[in-house]
Amino acid sequence: MKKLFLIPLMLLASLMMATACSEDEPAADGHEQTTPGEDGGEEGNEGSEDGDEGGSVDGTNGRYLVLYCSRTGNTESMAQTIQSTLDCDMIEVVPETPCDDNYNTMLERARTELAAIGQGTYPAIATSIESFEDYDIVFVGYPVWHGHMATPMQSFLHSHADLLAGKRIALFASSVSSLISTSERDAASLVPDATFEESMLLTSSTLDDMGSRIPAWLEALGASREDNQDDATEGLGINIIVGDQTITATMEDNGATRDFLSRLPLEVTLEDYNNGTEKIFYPDPELSLDDTPRGCTPVPGDITIYEPWGNVAIFCRDWTQSNSLIKIGHIDDNGIETFNVPGDITVRFERR
Ligand SMILES: Cc1cc2nc3c(=O)[nH]c(=O)nc-3n(C[C@H](O)[C@H](O)[C@H](O)COP(=O)(O)O)c2cc1C
Repeated sequence: MKKLFLIPLMLLASLMMATACSEDEPAADGHEQTTPGEDGGEEGNEGSEDGDEGGSVDGTNGRYLVLYCSRTGNTESMAQTIQSTLDCDMIEVVPETPCDDNYNTMLERARTELAAIGQGTYPAIATSIESFEDYDIVFVGYPVWHGHMATPMQSFLHSHADLLAGKRIALFASSVSSLISTSERDAASLVPDATFEESMLLTSSTLDDMGSRIPAWLEALGASREDNQDDATEGLGINIIVGDQTITATMEDNGATRDFLSRLPLEVTLEDYNNGTEKIFYPDPELSLDDTPRGCTPVPGDITIYEPWGNVAIFCRDWTQSNSLIKIGHIDDNGIETFNVPGDITVRFERR
């Protein structure tokens, strides 16, 4: 699992939460009813009570992350369906104080926490994530509490808003009957710089259709398990960010390139070498040269490896043929002009 930093005790808190799942419970004080006054009993999916494994899962498809919080297992089932459909990473967001198994106590606690959030105080959570950089879409799931996004997820979004800026977020939620729109507004104000995709709500009357509704929703979002990072290496285009400029390059289809692509995004300082002939850096560890043909006569824009030193060299000028040089890509169009400046430059390589 990439870049995930989960606070110790999370597992313990998670287990305590799972045991806090309730049976049939009295009515929730729902806002924004689809049918006014019909926000009745809370239906807990039996998954958690049956001891199904919830919590965190490490998938093979690194393009998507599923985050969820859940008290009685409904949102957790939705999260698991998304996770298994996409084969992606999944993380449970856990409140530091486990949810109460008494529904009325929980109603009151949620009311108090929502009021505190209104005053800028967020309840503590035991889940933290270092970076969302690798993920194309972050799925964020929660139960609706008093019409709003459940408070643990509000805390999570609040504490990770900077990291989530610029990301695509797809909300999913479960409720007895409330709509999702108030919680969509919660999310938009918690992470104002994210792009929100179409959301998915399942209520008591649609929860059983999860198996068909969730895959259809994922398809509409363009998310699929085939779309994983191994396939993405077949897309050989990269961006090279230099200051406020984005230069594109097309990589060769060889073993060294696949190793290089697997390390992106990567920020490095390119050192000037041989009076402006090359800009170079030293990947650490050196790039694998398996399945990589040797020998190249560099022209401006060629991205190469010099095998004896293990450095990557971007050529700004023509150079002589060498069997120790390995071509791994070429900067598109006239992009090399950006590198043709005196001294060192800092660049960031990203997949396109
Ligand atoms: C504190 C609390 C408040 C709730 N408020 C609402 C509500 O406003 N509207 C609604 O339709 N359901 C409400 N519910 C019911 C839950 O949203 C619903 O049962 C949901 O599916 C539970 O998801 P979970 O199993 O993932 O915890 C509330 C439940 C709790 C515990």
